[in-house]
Amino acid sequence: MNTQMLIDEAIESLQSQIDGTAIIACSGGIDSSVAAVLAHRAVGSLLHCVYVDTGLMRKNETEEVSEMFSEMGIKLKVVDASERFFSNLEGVTDPEHKRKVIGEQFIRVFEEEQSSCGAKYLVQGTIAPDWIESGGGERDVIKSHHNVGGLPEDVDLEIVEPLHEFYKDEVREMARELGIKSSERQPFPGPGLAVRVLGDLTPERVEACREACHIVETRLKEAAEGGKCDLPWQYFAALLPVRSVGVHGDARVHGETVVVRAVTSMDGMSARYSPIPHEVLSTISTEITNALKGNVNRVVYDITHKPPGTIEWE
Ligand code: XMP
Repeated sequence: MNTQMLIDEAIESLQSQIDGTAIIACSGGIDSSVAAVLAHRAVGSLLHCVYVDTGLMRKNETEEVSEMFSEMGIKLKVVDASERFFSNLEGVTDPEHKRKVIGEQFIRVFEEEQSSCGAKYLVQGTIAPDWIESGGGERDVIKSHHNVGGLPEDVDLEIVEPLHEFYKDEVREMARELGIKSSERQPFPGPGLAVRVLGDLTPERVEACREACHIVETRLKEAAEGGKCDLPWQYFAALLPVRSVGVHGDARVHGETVVVRAVTSMDGMSARYSPIPHEVLSTISTEITNALKGNVNRVVYDITHKPPGTIEWE
């Protein structure tokens, strides 16, 4: 079946599933954007698109996503819930627990939005690897992705998942066909920077990770455009709560560690680390330690394939 046929089929199926007001969380990522555009084509103004600013998004993300939806002619409501996420995540360091708290807060924010618009349906951009890795079918749980594992049992919305059976490369094709601007963007996890900040999720540590991710993204895009390397499938930084001794001028400092991760993959199910030229890594390292002076004094590069590692660090 070609991509256009898959799209038509998905729209038809959404029309038969949704007979009232629906709500969708739009992060600006490919999965939720494709789900939103399909649902918007299926039910038009019955769909309410909500962007939740969790405080865990990338640099300039809120502005860019708002602009993208406005260009597609789809109304997007931006809800700033960052304080609520940070206060609920205080002291939470276990990766699974983080995902559960985030999933739960998402749903709570949604319940509030639902009661203001009277939605009966929740459209989600869950794709096949999300539920397979979350223990769908017969497999063990590797990670409970927030949009699966975090759902509380008392949720009062009917879930509609138009991308449930699709893999990332298929969703990317659909995005291209639908003219979605973010179709070439790298994937970004639902729980956002929370799974890239190991240990305590303070606003300061998340900000450090956000800046490091921005540097990695900028320098790798620039290197790829300059023909120095291929653009990896996914590339980012994570902040590790590992302190080591460093020097700044004459002072001895005890800072944290940033790990740079860049991988090639087809669909996220398996991956190989990308061979980034040393010259590019060196620029990234200098820029990160300069930008985060005093907080981060060591940058390392992750050379683990998946398996055995996962792509994210949590
Ligand atoms: P892992 O780390 O499991 O990642 O090898 C595979 C792909 O999934 C993304 N990822 C997530 N996406 N919720 C999501 O929506 C999550 O909790 C989550 N965890 C990982 C990851 O960025 C990669 O593209």
